[in-house]
Amino acid sequence: MGKTQIKYEIKDINLAEAGKKQISWANSDMPVLQQISERFTKEKPLKGIRAVACCHVTKETANLAIALKEGGADSILIASNPLSTQDDVAASLVKDYDIPVYAYKGEDTKTYNKHVQIALDHKPQIIIDDGSDVVATLLKERPDQVKDLIGTTEETTTGIVRLQAMQKDGKLNFPAIAVNDSQTKHFFDNRYGTGQSTLDGVIRATNILLAGKNVVVVGYGWCGKGTAMRARGLGANVIVTEVNPVKAIEAVMDGFRVMPMAEAAKLGDVFITVTGNRHVIDLHHFLEMKDGAVVCNSGHFDLELNLDALKAETKDITNIRPFLESYNLKNGKSVLVLGEGRLVNLAAAEGHPASVMDMSFANQALAVEYLVKNRGKLDNVVQTLPAETDMNIAKLKLKSMGVEIDELTPEMVEYLNSWQIGT
Ligand code: ADE
Repeated sequence: MGKTQIKYEIKDINLAEAGKKQISWANSDMPVLQQISERFTKEKPLKGIRAVACCHVTKETANLAIALKEGGADSILIASNPLSTQDDVAASLVKDYDIPVYAYKGEDTKTYNKHVQIALDHKPQIIIDDGSDVVATLLKERPDQVKDLIGTTEETTTGIVRLQAMQKDGKLNFPAIAVNDSQTKHFFDNRYGTGQSTLDGVIRATNILLAGKNVVVVGYGWCGKGTAMRARGLGANVIVTEVNPVKAIEAVMDGFRVMPMAEAAKLGDVFITVTGNRHVIDLHHFLEMKDGAVVCNSGHFDLELNLDALKAETKDITNIRPFLESYNLKNGKSVLVLGEGRLVNLAAAEGHPASVMDMSFANQALAVEYLVKNRGKLDNVVQTLPAETDMNIAKLKLKSMGVEIDELTPEMVEYLNSWQIGT
């Protein structure tokens, strides 16, 4: 507890002034969320609702947390990753906005888990999860609290995969909104957001030149597509590895070389994993890599690189500069690991830019409102927001960008609704 009455656990409350400026800077590029926040301020659709947000504590998330508060929610914020918290932002949320935050950059796993428990002590009616850790802990450790829950919203692909597994297991006793599956989320956040911020993380951590390098992108989902596209834009020769044959064809026809990881391992100068799966770069791949290969992950959890196995083959690890460690192997080669194998875009850079988080968090805010408005009426399944919400967010975003588009004419509408007209 500090001067303010609320409880919190952050790095340093004195960072608040810098954090406030960051929050305001992000807000200036989040016009859709701004409009929602203004409406929330008037209508208070979340009045008295206890909410927990487990997200990356960034300047963009701060604006979501503020919007929820404007809507009347009694919410607390914890980090969804030990390395992604922006400490100045956390300080400002506490000091300037009276929002309890439990997060600091570099927190260990024990602290992370403690914060999840603190979040559950808040007896949430709404959980805004990024990776599904709060919901999974609730189900495993506090099943009696499920009755309090109106529902959950999930930000990321990994979290949705977990929610679907819960549903398959018959454990999902509340509605779950897959925010990631809104078109105005994954087409933009996953593709352009991850694409840009991942390369930003690689560059900030290393400052290596990417032009002419072989960059191996592991996984060709939306995040992989964006990452490959942006690496190519910087002049890299991009190799894609995939397990899904359709995505592999997409990568081939997008003009990338596609091959198994066992081959790519020998060729790559930089490796970026974005699969959501475990050990996609395993020990035998590491051992085949060139001396000094750079390896990082931009998928949700830090399990895509098998760093434990790599450590067992390592003589020592030297820290070269922030978020850049050299694993000096027993075989005489070294592997350069960025951000401890955690999301490189948030560990070494600032995550996705505000402009894409605007749409992601507009979806989050509207998903929370939708759950509250439809309390008791939704099925206990993983579901998306109505398509109309997606279209409205897209319309507002276009308007804010000053872009106008056409509308269907009555003649076009008639044609689309008839089956009689053909050749
Ligand atoms: N995930 C990726 N980038 C992010 C950001 N800037 N804020 C919150 N979550 C994110």
